Amino acid sequence: MNNHERLLGILEEGSSDYVSGEEISRRLSVSRTAIWKQINKLRELGYNIDASSRRGYRLISRPDRLEVSRLSDLVTTQSFGQRIIVLDSTVSTQQDAMSLAEEGAPEGTVVLAEEQTAGRGRQGRKWYSPRGKGIWMSIILRPTQPLAFTPQLTLLTGVAVCRAIRRLTGVEAGIKWPNDLLIHGRKVSGILLESATEDQRVRYCIAGIGIDVNLNVEDYPEELSHVGTSLKIEAGFEIDRTTLIAVVLEEMEQLSKLYAEQGFQPIAMLWEALSVTMNRSVRAHTGQGVAVEGTAVGLDPSGALMIETDLGERIQVISGDIQL
Ligand code: BTN
Repeated sequence: MNNHERLLGILEEGSSDYVSGEEISRRLSVSRTAIWKQINKLRELGYNIDASSRRGYRLISRPDRLEVSRLSDLVTTQSFGQRIIVLDSTVSTQQDAMSLAEEGAPEGTVVLAEEQTAGRGRQGRKWYSPRGKGIWMSIILRPTQPLAFTPQLTLLTGVAVCRAIRRLTGVEAGIKWPNDLLIHGRKVSGILLESATEDQRVRYCIAGIGIDVNLNVEDYPEELSHVGTSLKIEAGFEIDRTTLIAVVLEEMEQLSKLYAEQGFQPIAMLWEALSVTMNRSVRAHTGQGVAVEGTAVGLDPSGALMIETDLGERIQVISGDIQL
């Protein structure tokens, strides 16, 4: 821990009370002038700290920046988020998480970034990841099941993020197959699961989660302005990203436990209950470019979407996008 972090820790302990310069000086073994310099540095970083010559210093508010120390304090999980890396700017957290997985980082390792310069979406699309406004996060998974089961992990991740959003904001996000999260028909979050394999064996998966948290209407570029939305726009208030990350990790851990103990069936039931796709008329474009139309009737045991056509034929959609 550096001196900044220790100073912040002391101010946080005091919560809304002043902490005297004398006490800080004693605990950090630095002069009062050094403290004053550090306080000014913290103010430059966006911390609002009140200074009173009689009473000392009081932390009024913090910048909305992701910090490992605060995340670690809030994360209550046993494996998810035991190791968290926060980057200021990166190309894509997917790449960073992959490099760490190659080096042997354990399941549950999390990489977060304040901004991504080339965030990746599904099907080769770009993912808009502006600084400080969202959660751009990749989690290392080390599944033991064969490759054919990895779509189930995508759906599990979608359920985890959807439940976390509902729990924390009260906003009724729903899942559009396979794992777009929508609010009032607009996309608020997307999930990209990438796998590294060797002879049909999964070496690891990276679950990439993007959540538009505190974007304002004017933050969206033209091409996203009619299709995207944020939690702040929908809930009407700013959301603390750190708390939401902790809740997503909690949900991931709980659902992964359930999945390990009872298999995919309970996850599929939760998914179906949160889905906006079920029993709706959908048009699907499969990975092979084949167009199918019908009613979404549920998930099959592998996690594929079952569509029933007007002729009563059931078709499995394994990959691709659907239109509602
Ligand atoms: C999609 O809906 O197309 C999936 C979007 C996934 C975006 C996340 S943000 C964190 C991680 N890093 C990336 O480059 N992509 C994923």
